[in-house]
Amino acid sequence: MRRRLAAGNWKMNGTGAALSEIESLALKHPSPSVDILICPPATLLHRAAVAAESTGIAIGGQDCHGESFGAHTGDVSAEMLTDTGATAVILGHSERRVDHGEQNEDVRAKARTAMDAGLKAIICVGESLEQRDAANTLDIIGGQLSGSIPDQSTGENLIVAYEPIWAIGTGKVPTLEEIGEVHDFIRARLERRFGEGVGRSVRLLYGGSVKPSNATEIFGVSNVDGALVGGASLKAEDFSGIIQALE
Ligand code: G3H
Repeated sequence: MRRRLAAGNWKMNGTGAALSEIESLALKHPSPSVDILICPPATLLHRAAVAAESTGIAIGGQDCHGESFGAHTGDVSAEMLTDTGATAVILGHSERRVDHGEQNEDVRAKARTAMDAGLKAIICVGESLEQRDAANTLDIIGGQLSGSIPDQSTGENLIVAYEPIWAIGTGKVPTLEEIGEVHDFIRARLERRFGEGVGRSVRLLYGGSVKPSNATEIFGVSNVDGALVGGASLKAEDFSGIIQALE
């Protein structure tokens, strides 16, 4: 049985004052029946981990380097993330793929170091609107899955997030059938590569304009085990509505 997961990606938002949102969330969900993960900017990771201590809320990073250490100015290693108290990391988000030219092989290297450091890797995949309009969605997702996911993946250390690029921060959401088609496809690909046991235990998140108002119907789609939430994770009140839809 896969535990449901609400993951919040704060992206490049938040200074110290935003930590109160984690405290508010903990008050609203004292012993969550779903897993809750907050991924704040790297500058807040340690303080967020301290704020979330004993709340059951986990803290994660938004990226890490593909190597464990060395001359990489401005980058953060997987081990540094664990040192802050983080237990997970988002990798291959489309904003990283676009803004920093990250390719599937880069994401795979990052996921390897993250898993070696004991982190859960949330690997993001998703198509652009042009790719969807050209009926290439499943080809694109299939290539991202095989290229970005490392061989050492298990149901414990891997989470896959399907985020159609055109749905991120736009208020546009695919139809439930479209979400279901991609999630079923991802599940089938994972089972084919890793076997049924592992393939069935990996959690699949949907991301892209998830809000309290649309969360319940999205979570009713087969193979949707939770959400990777951007904008609506910034305020405890909104994120709480999404968590409730998973409970
Ligand atoms: O990582 C989160 C996604 O990019 C979704 O962002 O909920 O603001 O559309 P959004």
